[in-house]
Amino acid sequence: MTAEILGAMAAAHGTDKNGRHAYTQHYGRHLDQLRETAFNLLEIGVGGYEDPLEGGRSLRTWKDYFPLANIVGLDFYDKSAMSEDRIKIYQGSQADPKVISKILSDYDSFRVIIDDGSHRSEHVISTLLMLWQYVEPGGWYIIEDLQTSYWPMFGGAFYEKNSPLTSMGYLKSLVDGLNWSEIHQPTYSPTEFDKTLVGMHFYQNLAFLQKGDNTRGSAFVRENRFPGL
Ligand SMILES: C[S@@+](CC[C@H](N)C(=O)[O-])C[C@H]1O[C@@H](n2cnc3c(N)ncnc32)[C@H](O)[C@@H]1O
Repeated sequence: MTAEILGAMAAAHGTDKNGRHAYTQHYGRHLDQLRETAFNLLEIGVGGYEDPLEGGRSLRTWKDYFPLANIVGLDFYDKSAMSEDRIKIYQGSQADPKVISKILSDYDSFRVIIDDGSHRSEHVISTLLMLWQYVEPGGWYIIEDLQTSYWPMFGGAFYEKNSPLTSMGYLKSLVDGLNWSEIHQPTYSPTEFDKTLVGMHFYQNLAFLQKGDNTRGSAFVRENRFPGL
């Protein structure tokens, strides 16, 4: 039901998250519980590219769907005309650490981060690496348009699907970390993703990464039973 509400809001504002893409069904399912919560949402990619008066369609959708949230946008081009109450927009590249630092000097953390920006694999990966630690526990990091992971002109590769230099290949490299406590190598020390990534949901061209506490270890490890060894 709430996915339908979000779909209708997205259609009213004209973002392609519903219609051209079928993303709102997944957003509705995962983010519905945040609707009455006050939190910060960052979306990379305001829309409209060079046109300073075009874009902001998804930001306005989020503003309607999350009536208590602060909506923050980032775009390579100047989108200041889209700023309004509860929508703040920064200009710069998602791949520029100085731009990311500027946002983080104004916001300590985000409950939701959406990457709908350049869709270049190297940017998708570097932005995730810069921003993951600023996703709140229980929050989400969402990456759209992952079809570009297979497109060489976006830094992707269809012939090397598991290359960690492509966005999908990199995300797949994180999957085993969900079970890191089963890696019985004395020298293995868990990465930040191992310790804080608790769920990965893949859909067509779309991924939802859920942040939480993954340090508890599996039942087998806690019971000191290692049937696989
Ligand atoms: C697909 S549109 C975003 C659409 C919008 N999120 C929506 O759903 O309505 C992608 C936007 O990303 C911006 N963009 C491209 N490269 C970028 C980069 N390196 N950093 C930040 N934004 C970038 C483009 O200018 C464009 O406005």
